[in-house]
Amino acid sequence: MVRIIWREASGREIAADVAPGTTLMRAALEQGVGGIRGECGGNLACATCHVLPDPAWIARLGPPSAPEDDLLDFLDDERRPESRLSCQITASEALDGLILTVPAP
Ligand code: FES
Repeated sequence: MVRIIWREASGREIAADVAPGTTLMRAALEQGVGGIRGECGGNLACATCHVLPDPAWIARLGPPSAPEDDLLDFLDDERRPESRLSCQITASEALDGLILTVPAP
């Protein structure tokens, strides 16, 4: 299992053990993380799964794909250098301890 920590805009922190292979959007929905809606089901069509990975993890995550990068330009909230779509991040042992902040709407 992979430990993932979400920090909601409210300041509430949620930590969960996620099965490898699960997208972090799906895991957030299962955990009831506020601010993650995943409206398109992970099909890169909504950007309602926006997260800000802790900067210490950026290198391990690697860059977004070109389609993810394009969609990040259409966020309702502000895009930041570390912005990612959590439906495009899959839990793996290399991400054990990852911290994701959910931006304020
Ligand atoms: Fe729609 Fe991630 S869930 S883009």
